[in-house]
Amino acid sequence: MADDIKKAIEEEILIEVENLSVDFPISRGLAWWKKDIVSAVSNVSLKIARGSCVALVGESGCGKTTLANTLIGLITPTGGKVRYKDQDLYEVSNADYKKIRNNMQLIFQDPYSSLNPRFTIKDIISEPFRIRKNISELEIANHVERLLKLVGLSVRDKDRHIFNFSGGQRQRIAIARAIALNPEFLICDEPVSALDVSIHAQILNLLLDLQKELNLTYLFISHNLAVVRNISTHVAVMYLGEIVEYGEVDEIFNNPIHPYTKALLSAVKDDDPIILEGDIPSPINPPDGCRFCSRCYLKVDECDKDHPELLEIETDHFAACNLIKKRTA
Ligand SMILES: Nc1ncnc2c1ncn2[C@@H]1O[C@H](COP(=O)(O)OP(=O)(O)OP(=O)(O)O)[C@@H](O)[C@H]1O
Ligand SMILES: [Mg+2]
Repeated sequence: MADDIKKAIEEEILIEVENLSVDFPISRGLAWWKKDIVSAVSNVSLKIARGSCVALVGESGCGKTTLANTLIGLITPTGGKVRYKDQDLYEVSNADYKKIRNNMQLIFQDPYSSLNPRFTIKDIISEPFRIRKNISELEIANHVERLLKLVGLSVRDKDRHIFNFSGGQRQRIAIARAIALNPEFLICDEPVSALDVSIHAQILNLLLDLQKELNLTYLFISHNLAVVRNISTHVAVMYLGEIVEYGEVDEIFNNPIHPYTKALLSAVKDDDPIILEGDIPSPINPPDGCRFCSRCYLKVDECDKDHPELLEIETDHFAACNLIKKRTA
Protein backbone atom coordinates (compact mmCIF):
# COMPACT_ATOMS: atom_id res chain seq x y z
CA MET A 1 0.00 0.00 0.00
CA ALA A 2 1.40 3.41 -0.98
CA ASP A 3 2.35 5.70 1.94
CA ASP A 4 -0.02 8.50 0.88
CA ILE A 5 -2.95 6.06 0.91
CA LYS A 6 -1.87 4.67 4.27
CA LYS A 7 -1.87 8.19 5.69
CA ALA A 8 -5.34 8.86 4.25
CA ILE A 9 -6.84 6.01 6.24
CA GLU A 10 -8.05 7.56 9.38
CA GLU A 11 -8.38 6.05 12.80
CA GLU A 12 -12.12 6.59 12.85
CA ILE A 13 -14.12 3.42 12.32
CA LEU A 14 -16.97 4.23 9.95
CA ILE A 15 -18.63 0.81 9.84
CA GLU A 16 -18.40 -1.88 12.47
CA VAL A 17 -19.91 -5.29 11.99
CA GLU A 18 -20.15 -7.57 14.99
CA ASN A 19 -21.00 -11.29 14.86
CA LEU A 20 -23.33 -10.74 11.93
CA SER A 21 -25.38 -13.67 10.66
CA VAL A 22 -27.99 -13.92 7.93
CA ASP A 23 -30.08 -17.08 7.54
CA PHE A 24 -32.69 -17.52 4.83
CA PRO A 25 -35.40 -20.09 5.52
CA ILE A 26 -36.35 -21.86 2.27
CA SER A 27 -39.04 -24.43 1.52
CA ARG A 28 -37.96 -28.00 0.93
CA GLY A 29 -39.31 -28.62 -2.59
CA LEU A 30 -42.91 -29.85 -2.62
CA ALA A 31 -42.85 -30.24 1.18
CA TRP A 32 -43.32 -26.47 1.46
CA TRP A 33 -44.11 -26.65 5.18
CA LYS A 34 -40.64 -28.03 5.94
CA LYS A 35 -37.96 -25.36 5.98
CA ASP A 36 -34.24 -25.60 5.31
CA ILE A 37 -31.94 -22.85 6.50
CA VAL A 38 -29.48 -21.20 4.10
CA SER A 39 -26.65 -19.87 6.22
CA ALA A 40 -25.63 -17.07 3.83
CA VAL A 41 -23.53 -15.06 6.33
CA SER A 42 -22.24 -16.54 9.55
CA ASN A 43 -20.80 -14.73 12.53
CA VAL A 44 -18.94 -12.08 10.53
CA SER A 45 -17.06 -9.31 12.35
CA LEU A 46 -15.37 -6.51 10.43
CA LYS A 47 -14.25 -2.92 10.94
CA ILE A 48 -14.03 -0.47 8.07
CA ALA A 49 -11.96 2.64 8.75
CA ARG A 50 -12.74 5.95 7.09
CA GLY A 51 -10.70 6.37 3.90
CA SER A 52 -10.00 2.68 3.42
CA CYS A 53 -11.10 0.37 0.61
CA VAL A 54 -11.91 -3.09 1.92
CA ALA A 55 -12.10 -5.71 -0.82
CA LEU A 56 -14.46 -8.62 -0.24
CA VAL A 57 -13.41 -11.63 -2.30
CA GLY A 58 -14.63 -15.20 -2.61
CA GLU A 59 -16.37 -17.57 -4.98
CA SER A 60 -19.89 -17.15 -6.29
CA GLY A 61 -22.51 -17.85 -3.62
CA CYS A 62 -20.19 -17.32 -0.62
CA GLY A 63 -22.36 -14.46 0.73
CA LYS A 64 -20.67 -11.27 -0.46
CA THR A 65 -23.80 -9.52 -1.73
CA THR A 66 -25.85 -10.65 1.27
CA LEU A 67 -23.23 -9.22 3.63
CA ALA A 68 -23.08 -5.96 1.65
CA ASN A 69 -26.87 -5.58 1.62
CA THR A 70 -27.01 -6.19 5.36
CA LEU A 71 -24.35 -3.50 5.97
CA ILE A 72 -26.53 -0.95 4.27
CA GLY A 73 -29.81 -1.96 5.90
CA LEU A 74 -31.43 -3.78 2.98
CA ILE A 75 -31.52 -7.22 4.65
CA THR A 76 -32.32 -7.61 8.34
CA PRO A 77 -29.73 -9.86 9.97
CA THR A 78 -30.67 -12.96 11.92
CA GLY A 79 -28.10 -12.03 14.56
CA GLY A 80 -25.34 -9.55 15.31
CA LYS A 81 -24.92 -5.81 14.84
CA VAL A 82 -24.02 -3.25 12.20
CA ARG A 83 -22.87 0.13 13.47
CA TYR A 84 -22.45 3.23 11.41
CA LYS A 85 -20.34 5.70 13.43
CA ASP A 86 -21.55 4.10 16.67
CA GLN A 87 -25.22 4.13 15.63
CA ASP A 88 -26.84 0.71 15.47
CA LEU A 89 -28.36 0.52 11.99
CA TYR A 90 -31.14 -1.78 13.09
CA GLU A 91 -32.02 0.09 16.31
CA VAL A 92 -32.18 3.72 15.08
CA SER A 93 -35.47 5.44 14.26
CA ASN A 94 -36.69 5.49 10.65
CA ALA A 95 -35.78 9.18 10.37
CA ASP A 96 -32.21 8.53 11.55
CA TYR A 97 -31.90 5.50 9.27
CA LYS A 98 -32.88 7.68 6.28
CA LYS A 99 -30.10 10.13 7.20
CA ILE A 100 -27.57 7.32 7.55
CA ARG A 101 -28.72 5.76 4.28
CA ASN A 102 -27.90 8.99 2.41
CA ASN A 103 -24.33 8.43 3.56
CA MET A 104 -24.19 4.81 2.37
CA GLN A 105 -24.76 4.04 -1.30
CA LEU A 106 -24.49 1.03 -3.60
CA ILE A 107 -23.16 0.58 -7.10
CA PHE A 108 -24.47 -2.58 -8.72
CA GLN A 109 -22.75 -5.01 -11.02
CA ASP A 110 -24.98 -4.48 -14.00
CA PRO A 111 -25.63 -0.90 -15.17
CA TYR A 112 -27.99 -2.27 -17.85
CA SER A 113 -30.56 -3.48 -15.35
CA SER A 114 -29.96 -1.00 -12.51
CA LEU A 115 -30.88 2.09 -14.58
CA ASN A 116 -34.31 2.68 -16.11
CA PRO A 117 -33.75 2.86 -19.91
CA ARG A 118 -36.70 5.22 -20.43
CA PHE A 119 -35.11 7.94 -18.30
CA THR A 120 -32.68 10.63 -19.41
CA ILE A 121 -29.36 11.01 -17.63
CA LYS A 122 -30.68 14.16 -15.99
CA ASP A 123 -33.74 12.27 -14.63
CA ILE A 124 -31.55 9.55 -13.15
CA ILE A 125 -28.96 11.79 -11.53
CA SER A 126 -31.51 14.26 -10.20
CA GLU A 127 -33.69 11.57 -8.58
CA PRO A 128 -31.90 11.58 -5.18
CA PHE A 129 -32.29 15.39 -4.99
CA ARG A 130 -36.00 15.25 -5.82
CA ILE A 131 -36.60 12.75 -3.03
CA ARG A 132 -34.98 15.26 -0.68
CA LYS A 133 -37.49 17.92 -1.84
CA ASN A 134 -36.86 21.61 -0.75
CA ILE A 135 -34.33 22.13 -3.56
CA SER A 136 -34.87 24.35 -6.61
CA GLU A 137 -34.74 23.21 -10.25
CA LEU A 138 -31.74 25.49 -10.81
CA GLU A 139 -29.84 23.91 -7.93
CA ILE A 140 -30.66 20.43 -9.26
CA ALA A 141 -29.44 21.39 -12.74
CA ASN A 142 -26.18 22.69 -11.24
CA HIS A 143 -25.70 19.48 -9.28
CA VAL A 144 -26.33 17.35 -12.38
CA GLU A 145 -23.70 19.30 -14.32
CA ARG A 146 -21.20 19.06 -11.47
CA LEU A 147 -21.73 15.29 -11.15
CA LEU A 148 -21.48 14.66 -14.89
CA LYS A 149 -18.14 16.45 -14.96
CA LEU A 150 -16.94 14.53 -11.91
CA VAL A 151 -17.57 11.15 -13.55
CA GLY A 152 -16.10 12.20 -16.90
CA LEU A 153 -19.28 12.61 -18.97
CA SER A 154 -20.25 15.50 -21.18
CA VAL A 155 -22.79 17.98 -19.85
CA ARG A 156 -24.31 18.10 -23.36
CA ASP A 157 -25.47 14.48 -22.90
CA LYS A 158 -27.76 15.24 -19.99
CA ASP A 159 -31.00 15.08 -22.02
CA ARG A 160 -30.13 11.82 -23.83
CA HIS A 161 -31.73 8.55 -22.84
CA ILE A 162 -29.85 5.80 -21.08
CA PHE A 163 -30.27 3.33 -23.98
CA ASN A 164 -27.96 5.53 -26.07
CA PHE A 165 -24.98 4.84 -23.83
CA SER A 166 -22.36 2.09 -23.64
CA GLY A 167 -21.92 -0.12 -20.56
CA GLY A 168 -18.98 1.94 -19.29
CA GLN A 169 -20.88 5.20 -19.72
CA ARG A 170 -23.91 3.72 -17.93
CA GLN A 171 -21.72 2.69 -15.03
CA ARG A 172 -20.42 6.28 -14.87
CA ILE A 173 -24.04 7.48 -14.70
CA ALA A 174 -24.78 4.97 -11.92
CA ILE A 175 -21.71 6.22 -10.04
CA ALA A 176 -22.86 9.85 -10.48
CA ARG A 177 -26.23 8.98 -8.96
CA ALA A 178 -24.60 7.06 -6.11
CA ILE A 179 -22.38 10.02 -5.14
CA ALA A 180 -25.10 12.67 -5.68
CA LEU A 181 -25.83 13.24 -1.98
CA ASN A 182 -22.15 13.22 -0.94
CA PRO A 183 -22.11 9.80 0.75
CA GLU A 184 -19.24 8.75 2.99
CA PHE A 185 -19.44 5.04 2.27
CA LEU A 186 -19.88 3.34 -1.10
CA ILE A 187 -20.41 -0.36 -1.69
CA CYS A 188 -19.26 -1.40 -5.15
CA ASP A 189 -20.69 -4.86 -5.88
CA GLU A 190 -18.63 -6.22 -8.79
CA PRO A 191 -18.74 -2.79 -10.49
CA VAL A 192 -16.83 -3.82 -13.62
CA SER A 193 -17.57 -7.52 -14.06
CA ALA A 194 -20.50 -6.95 -16.44
CA LEU A 195 -18.44 -4.55 -18.58
CA ASP A 196 -16.10 -5.10 -21.50
CA VAL A 197 -12.56 -5.83 -20.27
CA SER A 198 -11.21 -2.88 -22.26
CA ILE A 199 -13.03 -0.39 -20.03
CA HIS A 200 -12.35 -2.00 -16.63
CA ALA A 201 -9.30 0.19 -16.01
CA GLN A 202 -11.16 3.43 -16.82
CA ILE A 203 -13.95 2.71 -14.33
CA LEU A 204 -11.52 1.55 -11.64
CA ASN A 205 -9.40 4.67 -12.11
CA LEU A 206 -12.53 6.78 -11.84
CA LEU A 207 -13.41 5.08 -8.54
CA LEU A 208 -9.87 5.66 -7.24
CA ASP A 209 -9.95 9.34 -8.27
CA LEU A 210 -13.36 9.85 -6.65
CA GLN A 211 -12.18 8.20 -3.47
CA LYS A 212 -9.37 10.76 -3.12
CA GLU A 213 -11.42 13.74 -4.24
CA LEU A 214 -14.49 13.03 -2.10
CA ASN A 215 -12.77 11.21 0.79
CA LEU A 216 -14.89 8.10 0.22
CA THR A 217 -14.67 4.78 2.02
CA TYR A 218 -15.30 1.66 -0.10
CA LEU A 219 -16.41 -1.90 0.33
CA PHE A 220 -15.31 -3.34 -2.99
CA ILE A 221 -16.70 -6.74 -3.96
CA SER A 222 -14.79 -8.59 -6.66
CA HIS A 223 -13.85 -12.00 -8.02
CA ASN A 224 -10.79 -10.51 -9.68
CA LEU A 225 -7.74 -10.50 -7.43
CA ALA A 226 -5.63 -8.45 -9.83
CA VAL A 227 -8.21 -5.65 -9.57
CA VAL A 228 -8.32 -6.00 -5.79
CA ARG A 229 -4.57 -5.56 -5.52
CA ASN A 230 -4.75 -2.24 -7.38
CA ILE A 231 -7.70 -0.67 -5.68
CA SER A 232 -7.95 -1.93 -2.09
CA THR A 233 -6.19 -1.17 1.17
CA HIS A 234 -7.51 -4.27 2.98
CA VAL A 235 -8.80 -7.66 1.87
CA ALA A 236 -11.46 -9.86 3.49
CA VAL A 237 -11.62 -13.38 2.08
CA MET A 238 -15.02 -15.05 2.37
CA TYR A 239 -15.85 -18.72 2.17
CA LEU A 240 -19.33 -20.21 2.62
CA GLY A 241 -20.67 -17.29 4.64
CA GLU A 242 -17.60 -16.73 6.82
CA ILE A 243 -14.58 -14.45 6.69
CA VAL A 244 -11.62 -16.84 6.72
CA GLU A 245 -8.84 -14.27 6.36
CA TYR A 246 -8.51 -10.51 6.73
CA GLY A 247 -5.59 -8.10 6.56
CA GLU A 248 -3.84 -5.27 4.74
CA VAL A 249 -3.70 -5.86 1.01
CA ASP A 250 0.10 -6.31 0.76
CA GLU A 251 0.13 -8.63 3.75
CA ILE A 252 -2.60 -10.82 2.21
CA PHE A 253 -0.87 -10.97 -1.16
CA ASN A 254 2.67 -11.51 0.17
CA ASN A 255 1.91 -13.64 3.20
CA PRO A 256 -1.43 -15.48 2.79
CA ILE A 257 -2.17 -17.78 5.71
CA HIS A 258 -5.43 -19.62 5.02
CA PRO A 259 -5.27 -22.55 2.54
CA TYR A 260 -8.25 -21.05 0.68
CA THR A 261 -6.56 -17.64 0.26
CA LYS A 262 -3.38 -19.41 -0.87
CA ALA A 263 -5.37 -21.30 -3.52
CA LEU A 264 -7.12 -18.13 -4.76
CA LEU A 265 -3.81 -16.27 -5.02
CA SER A 266 -1.92 -19.14 -6.60
CA ALA A 267 -4.51 -19.14 -9.41
CA VAL A 268 -3.32 -15.66 -10.43
CA LYS A 269 0.34 -15.80 -9.34
CA ASP A 270 1.73 -19.30 -9.83
CA ASP A 271 2.64 -21.29 -12.93
CA ASP A 272 1.55 -24.42 -11.08
CA PRO A 273 -1.57 -23.23 -9.24
CA ILE A 274 -3.28 -25.04 -6.35
CA ILE A 275 -6.45 -26.50 -7.85
CA LEU A 276 -9.38 -26.85 -5.44
CA GLU A 277 -11.50 -29.93 -6.03
CA GLY A 278 -15.23 -29.43 -6.61
CA ASP A 279 -17.40 -26.37 -6.11
CA ILE A 280 -18.24 -24.37 -3.02
CA PRO A 281 -20.66 -26.64 -1.02
CA SER A 282 -24.29 -25.70 -0.38
CA PRO A 283 -24.82 -23.21 2.46
CA ILE A 284 -27.90 -25.21 3.54
CA ASN A 285 -27.08 -26.73 6.94
CA PRO A 286 -23.30 -26.24 6.59
CA PRO A 287 -20.94 -28.53 8.54
CA ASP A 288 -20.19 -27.90 12.23
CA GLY A 289 -16.43 -28.16 11.75
CA CYS A 290 -14.36 -26.07 9.33
CA ARG A 291 -16.57 -25.00 6.42
CA PHE A 292 -13.62 -25.29 4.02
CA CYS A 293 -12.58 -28.79 5.04
CA SER A 294 -14.35 -30.67 2.21
CA ARG A 295 -12.02 -28.94 -0.28
CA CYS A 296 -8.94 -28.35 1.85
CA TYR A 297 -5.69 -29.90 0.62
CA LEU A 298 -4.13 -29.56 4.09
CA LYS A 299 -7.04 -31.00 6.08
CA VAL A 300 -6.39 -32.92 9.32
CA ASP A 301 -8.86 -35.13 11.25
CA GLU A 302 -10.01 -32.44 13.68
CA CYS A 303 -11.15 -30.13 10.84
CA ASP A 304 -14.34 -32.22 10.47
CA LYS A 305 -15.49 -31.34 13.97
CA ASP A 306 -13.55 -28.26 15.20
CA HIS A 307 -14.79 -24.95 13.97
CA PRO A 308 -11.82 -22.53 13.70
CA GLU A 309 -12.28 -18.98 15.00
CA LEU A 310 -10.86 -15.94 13.22
CA LEU A 311 -7.67 -15.23 15.19
CA GLU A 312 -5.14 -12.41 14.94
CA ILE A 313 -2.09 -14.36 13.75
CA GLU A 314 0.13 -11.37 13.14
CA THR A 315 -0.59 -7.69 13.85
CA ASP A 316 -3.79 -6.79 11.95
CA HIS A 317 -3.69 -10.08 10.05
CA PHE A 318 -6.48 -12.53 10.92
CA ALA A 319 -7.13 -16.09 9.77
CA ALA A 320 -9.48 -18.94 10.73
CA CYS A 321 -7.79 -22.32 10.29
CA ASN A 322 -7.24 -25.27 12.64
CA LEU A 323 -3.66 -25.71 11.37
CA ILE A 324 -2.79 -22.14 12.35
CA LYS A 325 -4.42 -22.64 15.73
CA LYS A 326 -2.02 -25.55 16.20
CA ARG A 327 0.95 -23.46 15.02
CA THR A 328 0.18 -20.63 17.46
CA ALA A 329 -0.82 -22.84 20.42
N1 LIG B 1 -33.29 -14.21 -0.59
C1 LIG B 1 -32.63 -15.36 -0.53
N2 LIG B 1 -33.27 -16.51 -0.17
C2 LIG B 1 -32.61 -17.69 -0.07
N3 LIG B 1 -31.30 -17.82 -0.31
C3 LIG B 1 -30.60 -16.72 -0.68
C4 LIG B 1 -31.23 -15.44 -0.81
N4 LIG B 1 -30.29 -14.53 -1.18
C5 LIG B 1 -29.13 -15.21 -1.27
N5 LIG B 1 -29.31 -16.52 -0.98
C6 LIG B 1 -28.29 -17.57 -0.95
O1 LIG B 1 -27.28 -17.12 -0.07
C7 LIG B 1 -26.00 -17.50 -0.55
C8 LIG B 1 -25.13 -16.26 -0.71
O2 LIG B 1 -25.63 -15.50 -1.82
P1 LIG B 1 -24.95 -14.14 -2.30
O3 LIG B 1 -25.75 -13.61 -3.42
O4 LIG B 1 -24.76 -13.26 -1.12
O5 LIG B 1 -23.53 -14.64 -2.81
P2 LIG B 1 -22.37 -13.85 -3.60
O6 LIG B 1 -21.09 -14.17 -2.91
O7 LIG B 1 -22.75 -12.42 -3.74
O8 LIG B 1 -22.39 -14.57 -5.02
P3 LIG B 1 -22.01 -13.95 -6.48
O9 LIG B 1 -20.50 -13.83 -6.52
O10 LIG B 1 -22.51 -14.97 -7.44
O11 LIG B 1 -22.70 -12.63 -6.63
C9 LIG B 1 -26.23 -18.26 -1.85
O12 LIG B 1 -26.25 -19.64 -1.59
C10 LIG B 1 -27.60 -17.77 -2.28
O13 LIG B 1 -28.25 -18.77 -3.05
MG1 LIG C 1 -23.10 -11.16 -5.39
